Amino acid sequence: MRTLYCGHLNTSHLDQQVDLCGWVHRRRDHGGVIFIDLRDRYGIAQIVFDPDRPEPFAIADAVRHEYVLRISGRVRHRPEGTVNKELSTGEVEVLAHEIEILNKAKTPPFQLDDEHVADDTRLRYRYIDLRRPEMQANLQLRARVASVIRRYLDQRGFLEIETPMLTKATPEGARDYLVPSRTHPGAFYALPQSPQLFKQILMMSGMDRYYQIVRCFRDEDLRADRQPEFTQLDVETSFMNEEEIMAIMEELMITLFMEAAGVELPVPFPRITYADALHRFGSDRPDLRNPLELIEVSDLMLDVEFKVFASPAKMAEGRVAALNVPAGGKLTRKEIDDYTAYVGNFGAKGLAYIKVNDSSAGREGLQSPILKFLPDEVIGQIMKRTGAADGDLIFFGADKARIVNDALGALRNRLATDLGLLHSEWQPVWVVDFPMFEYNENERRWDPLHHPFTSPRTEDPADIESDPENCLSRAYDLVMNGIELGGGSIRIHGPEMQMAVLRLLGMDEEEAQEKFGFLLTALDYGCPPHGGIAFGLDRLVMQMAGAESIRDVIAFPKTQTAACPLTTAPSPASPKQLRELSIRLAKSDKPK
Ligand code: AMO
Ligand code: AMP
Repeated sequence: MRTLYCGHLNTSHLDQQVDLCGWVHRRRDHGGVIFIDLRDRYGIAQIVFDPDRPEPFAIADAVRHEYVLRISGRVRHRPEGTVNKELSTGEVEVLAHEIEILNKAKTPPFQLDDEHVADDTRLRYRYIDLRRPEMQANLQLRARVASVIRRYLDQRGFLEIETPMLTKATPEGARDYLVPSRTHPGAFYALPQSPQLFKQILMMSGMDRYYQIVRCFRDEDLRADRQPEFTQLDVETSFMNEEEIMAIMEELMITLFMEAAGVELPVPFPRITYADALHRFGSDRPDLRNPLELIEVSDLMLDVEFKVFASPAKMAEGRVAALNVPAGGKLTRKEIDDYTAYVGNFGAKGLAYIKVNDSSAGREGLQSPILKFLPDEVIGQIMKRTGAADGDLIFFGADKARIVNDALGALRNRLATDLGLLHSEWQPVWVVDFPMFEYNENERRWDPLHHPFTSPRTEDPADIESDPENCLSRAYDLVMNGIELGGGSIRIHGPEMQMAVLRLLGMDEEEAQEKFGFLLTALDYGCPPHGGIAFGLDRLVMQMAGAESIRDVIAFPKTQTAACPLTTAPSPASPKQLRELSIRLAKSDKPK
């Protein structure tokens, strides 16, 4: 039907006869001449209809936005003054001598170039939304990413192997999506939160190097970088240690960013320990494009009169930290109040500050609601440690370390955006030396920081029970611009260690057998040392595309409430289906 894509038209086609197909992007009537911008996946071509040819002219006169057309014509230079340098097709136009309406379209519910369409409307009419050039570019980028990944891993001997979707729960810290079984009344499959256990079993099967671009399902609260079903690049290898795995994955990322997005990443990726990341940036996924750092001042506050600072300084789990904001002195009272409210979202009870007007004038040169509580010597030390200069502002957080880190970590990110402090475009970092476990105060139990199959540093299962708090794991996360792109680890490959970890997490032998019996048994039959990683493919593409949300790089994403406005899923099941599945709904849960 066509000889060329609209978006590929350029001066090399001058004087040629072309056949183009696409959608009517715009139609303009210019004193007897009709212009149609015809759009396809690669771009827009300008088609001209001259009244000299009355038949095509009459048809062109009748077309409307989003009609589907096929046109034939001759390529010519645009007249002087009408050349559009912004468009790759902008130097030429097609003088049409034939036009065929392949299909009509109702007036679309929104204009493709309207930037303020409600999300729900965009998703309901996703086929129209996806016609927008940004969305076309995003999905093309996504396809390119998948293709580069496959080529890179295929060349290095990784096998692409599929794992089941109807399976048993794989714990990655979220709720499961359950699927009722018809043939086993009352029993349920779980959709995988990740292929974690299957990829480990593939290593036990001698597959050596595995990968999969795979859908994962997690029923968790949605955010801009989270979807209930999302895609991982999932990788597992045998007989490789963490250095080797990180090296091959780092090279993959470098290749990928270069080939799919033309971005040169800094080499080698820096590394930071979990403890340092929290200490310096208040977060285990620090954005290293941001020059601001948290500065420890707990030791200075032990004996000050200001209880808000002194008591957390004295607590083992407490922390007092400072954040110096260069030129922050220009922040208004209202802005400081807004930041105080902002850190309140993270549990902070306040946000003390010192404005540095004239550091040579000592106490007199500073402005702060807490100055009166601090002795000269402490003030001197604060100035020295933070390196604050005239015109700067120092914020303080004092509380349990977790709250100070969350609050000042988030404030650090927010300040960088508000004040335009980010100093580079791409900043990957490996985070290493994670703790194995973290104590869950609410549930009064130990939780794994990654998943329960992550290997500890120690080789002695007894250490797990005797000192869980100080056990480090062999895990590594890749963070890019403050977003966790991927994470992985060396795995436990012995049954005793696996059982010791499950026991610490509160599972007795019986429960462990019920949930992971297949894994524990498999570990008895010759399991190689192995490890791997998984990347969030949607997050990766989102970052490369500069998109605000992963929804913009997924063809058919879900809303905040995990619904699909296009298909109206989820929807009620018929009484017959429910009967077959042995399911009876509680009265209160019956959908209206
Ligand atoms: P993890 O749970 O860290 O590890 O997941 C790996 C990566 O997947 C992405 N991701 C998500 N992306 C979009 N929406 C979500 N709801 C979502 N949840 C996670 C993140 C994350 O870094 N089996 C382990 C990996 C391993 O140990 O090999 C795992 O799933 O980018
Ligand atoms: P107050 O004595 O409550 O008026 O607080 C004096 C200053 O300390 C105010 O600027 C508060 O915002 C700040 N502040 C109070 N609690 C904290 C805290 N936990 N961490 C940091 N600053 C605080």
